[in-house]
Amino acid sequence: MSIPLIPVMPAAKSTLEDIEIQLLLEGIYQYYGFDFRDYALASLKRRVRRIMQSEEVSTISALQDRILHDANCLERFLIGLTVHVTAMFRDPSFFVTFRRRVVPLLRTYPFIRIWHAGCSTGQEVYSMAILLHEEGLYHRCRIYATDMNDYVLQQAKSGIYSLRLMQEYTHLYLRAGGTRSFSEYYTAAYENAIFRSFLKENVVFSQHNLATDNSFNEFNVILCRNVLIYFNSTLQKRVHQLFYDSLCSFGILGLGRQETLKLTPFEQHYEELDRDNRLYRRLH
Ligand SMILES: C[S@@+](CC[C@H](N)C(=O)[O-])C[C@H]1O[C@@H](n2cnc3c(N)ncnc32)[C@H](O)[C@@H]1O
Repeated sequence: MSIPLIPVMPAAKSTLEDIEIQLLLEGIYQYYGFDFRDYALASLKRRVRRIMQSEEVSTISALQDRILHDANCLERFLIGLTVHVTAMFRDPSFFVTFRRRVVPLLRTYPFIRIWHAGCSTGQEVYSMAILLHEEGLYHRCRIYATDMNDYVLQQAKSGIYSLRLMQEYTHLYLRAGGTRSFSEYYTAAYENAIFRSFLKENVVFSQHNLATDNSFNEFNVILCRNVLIYFNSTLQKRVHQLFYDSLCSFGILGLGRQETLKLTPFEQHYEELDRDNRLYRRLH
């Protein structure tokens, strides 16, 4: 008697693609420790499909096979899976509001600890260092800049960006309330802009994974912009708990434009400093 070849679907509505993705993420977690199991599925799928194209494999299982047996393929996967897009003074009104609403609060602290979680290639970190320098606060600050991806962190540490980007960055700097000449902050060498070394003197770059790692200090400010959108609600909740536990009383939390504390279990633990620019202050 022949057995019918109809797939059984214990998890209702799971497609073969969903099952393969689950197995892929589980394998990566168990073997390498990188945990993508609670990333938002739709964007994750899009990116996995793109990686399959560039790896020239036709199934996710084939991709899994390659990743588990070749650490170089994992590196490419890590770069391809997460979005690293960033810019100096991204969403300039955030920095305008930070100057206006947060800087006066920071002036009351003798020493200021800031955490940029998911800092990508570092532009946000140098932007904040410039802002704090212009406000006369930088010498009192220690900035911790973290990302799960070592490849982007190395670029962040170098402080070297393409000279082609400087026109756009100058424009954003001015819209963000910058009052000097942006070119004061870098020297041009061939095709590159090399940011001045004092801007990283008070910065510690380090690998930290929001999905698996714990808190490592207490902070006056935590900025995590344009990272939580890629997580599902379980992982977002974990990260909000981590931020809450890592902020001092009355510490500041800054999120990205499309991110919010609204409707999260943490909403009532913060006051809104500025709704549009996603700036919050821990209540006690
Ligand atoms: C779109 S970039 C945001 C960069 C910057 N914060 C900004 O707003 O311009 C998202 C960054 O989050 C990082 N990321 C993704 N998942 C992460 C995780 N689990 N832990 C830490 N960083 C993560 C990525 O590596 C990427 O560099």
